[in-house]
Order: sequence, then C-alpha cells, then structure tokens
Amino acid sequence: MIIVKSLEQLTFNPFKSPFALVPTMGNLHSGHINLLKLAVKNNYNPVFSIFVNPLQFGPNEDLESYPRSLERDLDVLKENNCHGVFIPKQEEILENVESLVAPTSDKLCGKSRPGHFDGVITIVNRLFEIIKPEACVFGAKDFQQQLIIKHLIKQKHRHIKFISAPTERDENGLALSSRNNYLNESEKIEASLIFKFLSSMSFELKLLPQTNKKNFLSEMESIQKKYHKKIEEKGFEVDYLELLDPKTLEKFELNSQKMLVAIAVFFKKVRLIDNLIIDLTSSS
Ligand code: PAF
Repeated sequence: MIIVKSLEQLTFNPFKSPFALVPTMGNLHSGHINLLKLAVKNNYNPVFSIFVNPLQFGPNEDLESYPRSLERDLDVLKENNCHGVFIPKQEEILENVESLVAPTSDKLCGKSRPGHFDGVITIVNRLFEIIKPEACVFGAKDFQQQLIIKHLIKQKHRHIKFISAPTERDENGLALSSRNNYLNESEKIEASLIFKFLSSMSFELKLLPQTNKKNFLSEMESIQKKYHKKIEEKGFEVDYLELLDPKTLEKFELNSQKMLVAIAVFFKKVRLIDNLIIDLTSSS
C-alpha cells in the first residue's frame, strides 16, 4: 500500500491509474470498506484520504473529540488491499485553499450546520485538485453531501466519475457512521429504531393513492407529523424529518416519482442522520 504524507510526494504521481479517491475523516468502519470494494468493482485502484477537516465543524461541534484511529485505519486498509492512502498535514491542505460555497446550504443538514457543506466542498475540491483521481466514491447515507459533490464535479471536475455506494447498515438496520462509536451497544440498538421508523413510514407513503395531488400531499403531511411525534416519544430529538424531491431537495410535490425521506436526530448527544429513497411507482 502506498502511503503519501506530503504534497511534494503527490507531484510524482504515486498512484497507479485509473484510481478512485475515497475521501474520509478516518475512524474507518465496514461502510468505508464497502466504498473500497465498490471502487475495485468499478475497476479503479482505491485510494483513501484521511483528513479530519476542521472547516466542516461548527464552533460547538465535536472537532476535538472526533474519533481518530490512524494506526488501526492503516491496518484495515492494508488488510483490504487498498492501493494507496493520502494522510496530509493540516497546514499543507489549508494553506491558500480556495473557499467554495456549497449549493443547498439552506436545507437539511446545511440549515442545521451553518458552513458545514462549504467546508466539505472546499476540502473535497482541494483533494480533487491535488490528488487528481479519475473517480471518487461517496456513501448514500450522506445524501446531501453526494448532491453537493456531484454539483462540484459538474462545475469544476467533469472528468471525475462519481460512484455512489449504498448505505451500509448493522444487523439491526442502524446506518454505519464513525459517530456511532460514541454509543454503547444497547444505545446502538435503540438508535436502530430510526431506520425502523423510516422503513415503516416509507411503507405507508407508498400505499397512498396518487390520483388526487391535494389529498396525497395532505396525507403525506399527516404521516410525516405522526412519525415525527413517534420518534420524539422514543427519546430522539428530531432535528429534521423531511419528505423532499431528491433532485432539488425542495418539498415533495408529487412532481417526481422518487421521494427522499431524510432524517437527522440527536440521541445521547450524538447527531445521527439517515435517509431512504422511495420509488412511488414500485410496490416493493
Ligand atoms: O464524509 C466525510 O467523511 C467528509 O465530509 C469528507 C467527504 C471526507 C470531507 O471532509
């Protein structure tokens, strides 16, 4: 496995083409390994970047305590035949970085975490510019992040292929995330209720007749409110639970057959997100 720790080393094109970048903040879990496998499946050499990006954390967020486990991460990547890793120094990445502004920052996580996506897009753009991958892999758990990166690619990096990886879940359905490390085993089981609620909510939404738009939208809102309440009753503090058009992140208006059900909750002081895409045309 090729380990690169400086910008200078990158100038010698250490990674073998074609390669796909998997940007991460470390503390790798099996969801990340799935991203690696997906890169390989798409015939790209997987290259990970590990960088806890200070620009995407708000003043009251967990930058200092964000779980870091570099030695273990490197072992895991080696075991899974990762082609390369880039572990930059903070100064080298942030020096003269071009600050970008992300679209949809007024929605979902962007609304609750001002500046977060500007920080993400700024760093991912920087990584694309210096590492020059042919492809990149991002997980669908961070749906809004995916949209924003696709936008960045369209604007500035059209040659980079975007590969989307489905959300990896534990045996109870909890979406894997580095922040799950803040929860103990029984809390993780409790947290998996989020996915159960999303699933049964999706089931109910799919059953709604679509013949009358007004009725559909009013029923949809009742379901949304009902689940909002149910979820709060189970001890979660709902940051948002929204039903949106997955292309625009605007409120779902029955103009498309796909609906994004997106949720963020605080649970035991940990912020957890998840989402499902519902296809209203299919019954499964
Ligand atoms: O998804 C993440 O871990 C981060 O937002 C990313 C893409 C590595 C940018 O810092």
